[in-house]
Amino acid sequence: MMLNADTAAFWTRNLRDHALFVYDTLSPQEEAERQRALYYLRWFDTRLKEDPSANPRRLLPGAESLRIFLLHLLRRQLTEGLGILLTPTYISHTVSENEEALRVLGSSPGASSTDPQLRSHLLWLPVLAGDAFVIQGALDEVEKELVRSYIGHTQRFEDAYAYAVELAGFLRTGLTDFPAITRFREIVRRETEAFLVSLRELERLEAGNLVLDKLPLVFVEHIRRETEFYMGTLG
Ligand SMILES: [Fe+2]
Repeated sequence: MMLNADTAAFWTRNLRDHALFVYDTLSPQEEAERQRALYYLRWFDTRLKEDPSANPRRLLPGAESLRIFLLHLLRRQLTEGLGILLTPTYISHTVSENEEALRVLGSSPGASSTDPQLRSHLLWLPVLAGDAFVIQGALDEVEKELVRSYIGHTQRFEDAYAYAVELAGFLRTGLTDFPAITRFREIVRRETEAFLVSLRELERLEAGNLVLDKLPLVFVEHIRRETEFYMGTLG
């Protein structure tokens, strides 16, 4: 499939940010893993500086190998334990995004015949629910209103995800469009838009150091870019 420069740039930055978050949150006791994360960070940083209209398939080796690294970290986390501040669910979501990047780049680990709209819901709804949850957990406990607001976003994205899972079953009928699916899309679009508004406000607060939290601005920007990307798939 043809990949435009914007999409290639989105995925390059997305994977680069994941390498950055892993690097930033690994304990100094995990020096070997940190060095590997730094290698990916530099690799994707170099790709970002290249001409965005260059052949996007040049991203493939880094994307394939980063996926294996993330799964290695997740495996360690689930078995022996790993000194890192990211949760297993967060790392697992980075693997999901990585797999979508590989699919878009034309190297899918599990080729899928799923309807593209549905695939987008099944990928991004749990990611955004997780992102909203991570934000509320990184806010200072005195930021009650923001904490409540992000818990609300988490719940609504989780609700929409539960709906999308059932939709996957309905689509086995061969239908791709029916009245309730239009309404579902509307609800998701509204919620995603509301989330975007709150993320942009949070970025403004972060930039002015007006909010008490332990969230790096780059993390909020990353989530905002993911939300915009998902928004773009909603039509
Ligand atoms: Fe991400």
